[in-house]
Amino acid sequence: MSRTAHIVGWGKYVPSRVLTNDDLARMVDTSDEWIRTRTGIVERHIVNEGETTASMAVRAAREALQVANMKPADVELIIVATVTPDHVFPSTACLVQDALGATRAAAFDLSAGCAGFIYGLSVAADLIAGGAYKNALVIGSETLSCITDWSDRATCVLFGDGAGAVVLQANDADGGVLASILGADGSGGGLLYLPAGGSRLPTSHETVDQRLHYLQMKGREVFRFAVEIMPEATRDVLKKAGLTLADMSILIPHQANQRIIESAARALGVPQDVVYSNVARYGNTSAASIPIALCEAVEEGRIKRGDLVVCVGFGAGLTWGASAIRWSVPLPPAPLSRWKKAWYQLHYRYVAIRSLVRRFIRWFFARGVEE
Ligand code: UT7
Repeated sequence: MSRTAHIVGWGKYVPSRVLTNDDLARMVDTSDEWIRTRTGIVERHIVNEGETTASMAVRAAREALQVANMKPADVELIIVATVTPDHVFPSTACLVQDALGATRAAAFDLSAGCAGFIYGLSVAADLIAGGAYKNALVIGSETLSCITDWSDRATCVLFGDGAGAVVLQANDADGGVLASILGADGSGGGLLYLPAGGSRLPTSHETVDQRLHYLQMKGREVFRFAVEIMPEATRDVLKKAGLTLADMSILIPHQANQRIIESAARALGVPQDVVYSNVARYGNTSAASIPIALCEAVEEGRIKRGDLVVCVGFGAGLTWGASAIRWSVPLPPAPLSRWKKAWYQLHYRYVAIRSLVRRFIRWFFARGVEE
């Protein structure tokens, strides 16, 4: 029996603010009918004032830790997949580590576009299987609304904000993350990218005036890539796990466009109801879309113990990836006692104070050095 990483906790967070297709039709030259028929999207969630990629990641992670009944101090690794970090540095993962009080965790961000969550899951699962860590948090969190050009109808109708998280734990039992495949083709980098703000085109008045801090996409070409790579990656990961399409209980694809999801189902020859979709309610939340969809599939009773879950994604890079997971924990999860819930609340209050005190001590001694 070999050690594998098992998903033992899951959580999601989406902002309360909803932007409907009709809202968008009042902002740009589009219509509810066009958006629904071309993308399947009906509404998306957008951050409220003060919400960020880190704050959403923390909310999703807290939920995932509660489901896992795990203390933040037991987490040894935090990976945040995102293309919209709070800052270029420090990493969003470090902000999450601080807010959770995950004092024993290594933390880093990972940039692999909409395939970021699969990349994170694969890296964390392999580190766990190799014995480096026992418990890891993998989070996908995005505030795409801050890099969306709200005057560009070709892109602004597609994206939304949100976060999803899973807790991975080492276990010798059967199941868990059985196999993952990852891929990249940098020659397609120009199909979906953020032109300015990096070392190639640092922020300047010109980059702001030319609206180069908004994502740009060649939609049709990304679409073509997506419909080819989704079935291919799904088949590849099943092959690597020594399984077939007939073994697959549910496919959780990146939620970019209902037409892409349906095309993947047709190409694989699986019924549409095997392929999970919630793109109508959230739009494309990039690295957050797969963990949000996974959480909702669990909450809706679409996954049960023993099921073979395949997650597959593609995105900016270009990147792609897929993971085959044998679901190994009973569902629904055991509810937390009142005391445990109170413990979590107290813990997060203590952690916030602890962080403030540490900042104060740093400020105080830095003042001493300056003087
Ligand atoms: O996570 C990965 C990120 N991205 C993706 O997965 C996106 C992949 N691509 C797509 O989902 C689709 O290509 C889109 C939804 C972006 C576009 O759908 P499409 O069927 O490929 O439309 P199109 O780009 O070929 O545009 C068709 C027409 C154009 O008008 P003309 O040139 O035919 O007169 C567009 O100007 O639709 C027009 N159009 C719109 N019309 C109303 C483009 N956006 C809109 C809009 N409302 N929002």
